[in-house]
Amino acid sequence: MDRLVWLTQQRWLAEGVHELRFRASDGGELPEWEPGAHITITLPNGQARDYSLCSDPADRTEWTVAVLRERDSRGGSSYVHEQLRVGEQLAVAGPRNNFPLRPADSYLLIAGGIGITPIKAMAERLAAQEVEWSMLYCGRSRAGMAYLSELHGIAGARLRLHCDDEQGGPPDLATILAGCADGTQVYCCGPEALLAAVESQMVDPDLLHIERFRAAAPVEATGDESAFDVVCAGSGLRVTVQPGVSIVDSLASAGVEVLTSCREGICGTCETKVLGGVPQHRDSILTDQERSAGETMMLCVSRCQSAELELDLP
Ligand code: FES
Repeated sequence: MDRLVWLTQQRWLAEGVHELRFRASDGGELPEWEPGAHITITLPNGQARDYSLCSDPADRTEWTVAVLRERDSRGGSSYVHEQLRVGEQLAVAGPRNNFPLRPADSYLLIAGGIGITPIKAMAERLAAQEVEWSMLYCGRSRAGMAYLSELHGIAGARLRLHCDDEQGGPPDLATILAGCADGTQVYCCGPEALLAAVESQMVDPDLLHIERFRAAAPVEATGDESAFDVVCAGSGLRVTVQPGVSIVDSLASAGVEVLTSCREGICGTCETKVLGGVPQHRDSILTDQERSAGETMMLCVSRCQSAELELDLP
């Protein structure tokens, strides 16, 4: 459900990175969240974007996110950096958490660039617990790495910084991972190259938890797609989804708007309850168990294995 918030503060954090702080428009408390959660902000230009929360989860008066100005911005980060102003009221959905911190005895947190945002909230949580943990924060250069001084305060000697330009290339992940205690849970967020490098070095992939900014591989029409019908349970409206057209676009053509953000199956903004039919999942969020249960699906990328899907939509 969307809620209205005020943008109360905007500040420069590092090269290309701005921090935004929000308070509830009605002056009340904001919903609870856990490290790893993100919110979906609908900008005044109509674009919806997901940003990880990186403030203190115990502070229900304020939410903080940090936004990297993407070189190939599609209108989200460029708007935030160039046009969004303190005092604006924005609609926000969430928080939603596709990257929760599970109980464990030992953790390694790995952040690359703006991937520090969910990892910072995790570091703050772990610093308050009696567990073994350490973190690796990598970036191309120190100037573009947000929250450096805060992280030194949170993690102290547990923080290992790696700046590619100072250290002559990317970090030696094999050595870092080999130095972890058995069973260490690894949480990683950052650019695809970092995630792929960590994935390739993990001896036990079950210990790795990652959050992507982009789908690992673009979701493309396979050529063997067939048409199916979607029924909106609330109104009974029936919409045919043609091959090569997404469910969200088919619904939009019929006047049913579903909030989307990434449109790549990685953020969860368009997650919708399935009341009937068998989804064909193409997202990067649901676990194998959730896929088999077939109770929810991402309408931006997923399709249908049966002739009809009944969805929990008005
Ligand atoms: S819009 Fe992000 S998962 Fe569908």
